[in-house]
Amino acid sequence: MKPLFAVLFGLALQVAAAANDNCTPDEVQPAVNRFSGAGYDFLTKFSTMPPDWDQEVFDNLWQVWEEPVRSEAAQATPEQRREMAFSRYGLTSEPGDTSGKPQQYVVDAQGGWTMNCLSCHQGKVAGQVIPGVPNAHFALQSLMEDVRNTKRILGKRMVRMDMASAIFPLGTTNGSTNAVMFGMALMANRDAKLNVRPGLPPAMTHHDHDAPAWWNFKKKTRLYSDGFSAKGHRPLMQFMLVPENGPEVFADREDEFQEVYAWLESLEAPKYPFAIDHKLAAKGEVVFSNHCAECHGTYGKDETYPNKIVPIDVVGTDPVRLGALSPEHRHAYGQSWFAHFGEHPTIDDPGGYVAPPLDGIWASAPYFHNGSVPTLWHVMNSSERPGIWRRTEDGYDQEKVGLEVATFDEVPAEAAKIGRERRKYFDTSKNGKSAAGHTFPDALEEAEKHAVLEYLKTL
Ligand code: HEC
Ligand code: HEC
Repeated sequence: MKPLFAVLFGLALQVAAAANDNCTPDEVQPAVNRFSGAGYDFLTKFSTMPPDWDQEVFDNLWQVWEEPVRSEAAQATPEQRREMAFSRYGLTSEPGDTSGKPQQYVVDAQGGWTMNCLSCHQGKVAGQVIPGVPNAHFALQSLMEDVRNTKRILGKRMVRMDMASAIFPLGTTNGSTNAVMFGMALMANRDAKLNVRPGLPPAMTHHDHDAPAWWNFKKKTRLYSDGFSAKGHRPLMQFMLVPENGPEVFADREDEFQEVYAWLESLEAPKYPFAIDHKLAAKGEVVFSNHCAECHGTYGKDETYPNKIVPIDVVGTDPVRLGALSPEHRHAYGQSWFAHFGEHPTIDDPGGYVAPPLDGIWASAPYFHNGSVPTLWHVMNSSERPGIWRRTEDGYDQEKVGLEVATFDEVPAEAAKIGRERRKYFDTSKNGKSAAGHTFPDALEEAEKHAVLEYLKTL
């Protein structure tokens, strides 16, 4: 199936290239060649933490799967079984890599698997693995449940990640995680110089966040959906805050994370691979500059990006993420090693969300910081957003521009009972998952919305 898809995808690219006479064919290639460089190698080959499990555990995960999938896996070749596991948990291989290693975990020489940054930050769109596409398939909670059950069967030792994931919510919908609270919990046990010190667990507001596209890193001057942190290589190191890593480990690894920073800066948004009506898009550009550019910037030649934080009562999207980080937490972060002890200014109370750059926006569905809106058409039509939706694995909706989804009035009763099934549904009635707000496009006429949607494909 994959080679066929690759051929079709290649064809679509050629058509897109032919339709767009302003571009040389080179420019419309997706950035498949950029899985390289010191920063990328560091992320995928070097582990900064003790392993979460070993190869034997991964190879036996299928033993705890439900029927009939377990029987299918039992009959399958090891290669097919691995593909089933990758699909089930949202793991990808680097294009052309047949080693069986996922991009999302470092697999060391002893067969130890350790989660890396790409677990949340590298996925696929329309079946294609393209650098910087957020992992909108990652099923971390379901994966960790299966790992614990498999370790039990095999009589393997549980490690910190098993214990932590049994009590700490990792994510209630596949494709988004409670990552912001992981960071907050880990930071609570550090002083400003990152010495490990006993600390009371802070008040937690668990909620899921959709990882942002990494190719927009280069346009940003501040990080995260509320823009509270100054940009730098040190903020990228927060994921290493497990208690095993003392302050000296952070100092030792700064050079590598400068390479990671450089790799992120080098990423470019992938071009839309399907057909674009360029006349319509040109009309859309005019509407966009009158209604959207003040917040999202301008694109093409002489592009601008204002890095604007929009007050929560103006943007009106789900407020839970904003309130989940307290001003005290942001302040402590700002005084710490991560922000060069206050030299890199932190915003303690940003009061809203950053209007993100829209480069490659076609490829980073679902939309908004919580990933609550499946397509750009739904972003443009706020009253039509589905209450509950479920995506297909590799389908792409070219009409609505975004995920191919089925929509529901309620989560089917059978699925609601079982965590791993329930997590396939995005339920906007849950805390932190609202798809409300950002009603700015409502000011447009239907024809204008249509044109803007076409224009968004060109970014
Ligand atoms: C468990 C999932 C997860 C892992 C692992 C993870 N991230 Fe993230 N990352 C996120 C989420 C979710 C956000 C958005 C948080 C927010 O905006 O509040 C984010 C935000 C970021 C941002 C800010 C981007 C922007 O546009 O503002 C950068 C840069 C980043 N991560 C880099 C990394 C690096 C480097 C690593 C590994 C050292 C890493 N992340 C590991 C989930 C993860
Ligand atoms: C007043 C500022 C403002 C205006 C005007 C505005 N936006 Fe936004 N937009 C935002 C903010 C802030 C967000 C982030 C909301 C969130 O994540 O909760 C956003 C998010 C988005 C997203 C989702 C981005 C992502 O990565 O998930 C799209 C698409 C978008 N806007 C398109 C538009 C279009 C098209 C227009 C014009 C019709 C527009 N916006 C007008 C502030 C604005």
